[in-house]
Amino acid sequence: MESLNVALGARTYSILIGAGLLGSKRLLSGYFQSVHRVAIVSNVTVAPLYLPTLRTLMERLGITVSAETILPDGEIYKNWETLNMIFDALLVGRCERSTTLIALGGGVVGDMTGFAAACYQRGIPFIQIPTTLLAQVDSSVGGKTAINHPLGKNMIGAFYQPHLVLADTDVLKTLPDRELRAGLAEVIKYALIRDMAFLDWLETHLDALLNKDSAALEYAIYRSCQHKAEIVANDEQEHGERALLNLGHTFGHAIETGLGYGAWLHGEAVAAGILMAAELSADQGWLSRGDIARIEQLFVRIGLPVRGPAMPVDRYLELMWRDKKVQGGKMRLVLLKRLGEALIVDTATPTAISNAICARS
Ligand SMILES: NC(=O)c1ccc[n+]([C@@H]2O[C@H](COP(=O)([O-])OP(=O)(O)OC[C@H]3O[C@@H](n4cnc5c(N)ncnc54)[C@H](O)[C@@H]3O)[C@@H](O)[C@H]2O)c1
Ligand SMILES: [Zn+2]
Repeated sequence: MESLNVALGARTYSILIGAGLLGSKRLLSGYFQSVHRVAIVSNVTVAPLYLPTLRTLMERLGITVSAETILPDGEIYKNWETLNMIFDALLVGRCERSTTLIALGGGVVGDMTGFAAACYQRGIPFIQIPTTLLAQVDSSVGGKTAINHPLGKNMIGAFYQPHLVLADTDVLKTLPDRELRAGLAEVIKYALIRDMAFLDWLETHLDALLNKDSAALEYAIYRSCQHKAEIVANDEQEHGERALLNLGHTFGHAIETGLGYGAWLHGEAVAAGILMAAELSADQGWLSRGDIARIEQLFVRIGLPVRGPAMPVDRYLELMWRDKKVQGGKMRLVLLKRLGEALIVDTATPTAISNAICARS
C-alpha cells in the first residue's frame, strides 16, 4: 500500500492507494478510529459490485451504517434532484453532525456526496472511496465538490475536503474500458503540466496501464495523487497554481455542456480540449508541431479523441465565456510553455482561440 498526505494544517488527510485495500481491516482500522456511524452513497452500477464489501468492512470495524443512498447512474443526474435523495436518506436515517458520509463510486458520486457533506447540518465529515481511474487520480482529492446546472458544469458547489481517500486498485478490474481510457486523460494532464519524466514513463508503460496491470496502475495513481496533493496544499482554493490543473478543461467543458452532459465522457472532452490548448500554445510560439504530435500519438494509442465535435466555433466560444475561469471579463486559459510546464494566459486573442478550436474540431 502507498500512502500520501494532503497537507492542509488541521484538515490534513491521507490518501491510501493499493490492491485489496477495502478488504483489509488491519490496514484501515487506524484510519477509522474516530468514525462510529456512517451513511453510504453509491449508485446503481457500483453498489451491487462493492457495497457488500464496504458493509462487511464497516461491520468488522464496528461501525454502524445509518443510511444508504443508491443514486441513478450518470452525469445527467448530477443535479439538485438527485442531491436531495442524499439529504432525504440522511434525515430519514436520523444522521447527526458526527455521522461520516462515504462516497463509493466515480467522480459523479464523489462530487455530489462531497457537496451533500458540505451542506448537511452545515458540514459533516466525509470519506472518498473512488472507484474509477479518474476519481482515483483526480476528483476524490482536493475538495472540489459540485453539481451541474443546465447552463454550466459544476456551477453549484463548495470547497470541502474529505477526511480520507481510499483508492483500491482492485475495483478498476470491473471498470469499462472506455472509462479507464478517459481517466488516463487526467493522468497525462499531470505529466504535461509539470512532470516530463512522468510523460516518458507513461509512453513506456501505456500498454501495461491499458491492460490494467496492478503495479502500473498503482504507480500512475500514486504519482498523479502526489501532484494533486502538492498543488492543493499550496493553493487549496485556486487563486494561483491550482488553476493549472484545468489544462484543456475550458475547451472540454464547452464540449460537455454543448453536447449535453454524458454524451462525451469528461476525460474524452478534456483530451480534445488539451489538444486545442496545445494548438493555441503552438500559436504563441511555445510548442512545436512535434510536441503536439507527441501528445496526439499518446491519445491515439489510448483511443481518446484528438478532435472536438463539429460545433460552430461561436458556440464553443459562448460556452467558454460562461466557464468559471472567466475573471474580470478575461478568459484565463492554461497553455503549455513546453511539455512538462504550464502557465496561465489571459491575453490570447479571440481570433487565436477560434483558430485553435477550428484546428481541432
Ligand atoms: N472534483 C474534482 O476535482 C473533479 C475533477 C475531475 C472530474 N470531476 C468530475 O467527475 C465526474 C466524472 O467522474 P468519472 O469519470 O469517475 O465518471 P462517473 O462517476 O460517471 O463514473 C463512470 C461510470 O463508471 C461506473 N463505475 C464507477 N466505478 C466503477 C467500477 N469500479 N466498475 C464498474 N463501473 C464503475 C459509474 O457507475 C459510471 O457509469 C464529472 O462529473 C467531473 O466533473 C471532478
Ligand atoms: Zn477533469
